[in-house]
Amino acid sequence: MATIQANDYLIKVDEPWTEFSKFVQSHHYSKIVILVDENTRKYCYNRVKGQLPFDHQIIEIKSGEDQKSISTCEFVWSQLLNNDCDRKSLVINMGGGVIGDLGGFCAASYMRGIDFIQIPTTLLSQVDASVGGKLGVDLKHFKNMVGVFKNPKMVWIQTEFLDSLPANELRSGYAEVVKHCLIADKKQWEEISKYDDLSQINQWTNIVVDSIKIKNKIVGADPFESGLRKILNFGHTLGHALESQLLETENRLLHGEAVAQGMILESMHSVNHGKLSQIEFEEIKSYIELIFGKLEKQRLDINDLIYISKKDKKNFAGAIKISTIDKIGSCIYDFNISPDEIKSLFSQSNFN
Ligand SMILES: NC(=O)c1ccc[n+]([C@@H]2O[C@H](COP(=O)([O-])OP(=O)(O)OC[C@H]3O[C@@H](n4cnc5c(N)ncnc54)[C@H](O)[C@@H]3O)[C@@H](O)[C@H]2O)c1
Ligand SMILES: [Zn+2]
Repeated sequence: MATIQANDYLIKVDEPWTEFSKFVQSHHYSKIVILVDENTRKYCYNRVKGQLPFDHQIIEIKSGEDQKSISTCEFVWSQLLNNDCDRKSLVINMGGGVIGDLGGFCAASYMRGIDFIQIPTTLLSQVDASVGGKLGVDLKHFKNMVGVFKNPKMVWIQTEFLDSLPANELRSGYAEVVKHCLIADKKQWEEISKYDDLSQINQWTNIVVDSIKIKNKIVGADPFESGLRKILNFGHTLGHALESQLLETENRLLHGEAVAQGMILESMHSVNHGKLSQIEFEEIKSYIELIFGKLEKQRLDINDLIYISKKDKKNFAGAIKISTIDKIGSCIYDFNISPDEIKSLFSQSNFN
């Protein structure tokens, strides 16, 4: 059990549900709505509804990234209106990052903004989306194109929800845990890399708490992403290129699965520039491949990967920029990488 102070709200991990209802009831909301998708209704809401002793309505949307759209917002806003929600109402977002980003955005814009609480139910949303106040939806094929920064009243995390999460979704979230350790916490890296299979972890509290603390510290030092916060992008430039390229194929990768491969490639770039030691690189690579497996080279179109990398938001004045590590627990950002270097990373790496 732990409480983390994030900016102007608290993140509570594995605290008793009585505390949750006390918090909600103390605010005397006029209406309370819980937003779920079909999975989080079944596996999360139904599991804990007995612990929610206040009147509330449910709004259910379909699961999936393609629901993170303005048309789903329109549906949610209309439901809020139909349920007579006013400016003193509360939205509780119970689900993964899609529910959190979309539901938070709907609440932040409905009647110019009403209160919302995040109950993230995937590992990814617990360790990543729970901090930083980023909300929004996708526009056409562009991710997170429309949104705002706004903090929730509280983030309420129960690691018991991870029990029902599909194994690939758990693994995807674990990539962000690995990333947080590699960029900022060598000691915790040593702890987590003892697990050679995620099914060995039957107590997630410490891992989740530690991971949130790392992100919270980084976001706190750079709330508007002008410098240091870029280190959270480790693995994400080449990871995102892989994720986008494979999106429409049968080999598509979940976000974290792609980021895991991106971390290997971007670490290798650091080795090539005499920053990261070969020994630490081998340690990172073998652990990531143990948990996430290897990519198959023949699936990849390198020129297309370079094209996507050139479009990355972090680039500046035409140069492709990455964040990488110079040792385990220490990160560098705004590090140049040329198209030729990207090409050679892919040919250097021994993807099957
Ligand atoms: N706001 C931020 O700072 C931030 C950070 C990282 C990611 N994101 C966003 O988060 C989204 C991805 O989030 P995600 O990976 O959580 O995906 P998701 O919300 O799509 O959830 C993944 C799947 O798991 C199901 N699910 C959720 N909790 C479950 C549970 N406890 N048991 C069983 N099934 C469950 C969902 O219904 C869904 O099918 C992306 O849109 C990304 O842009 C936002
Ligand atoms: Zn990520």
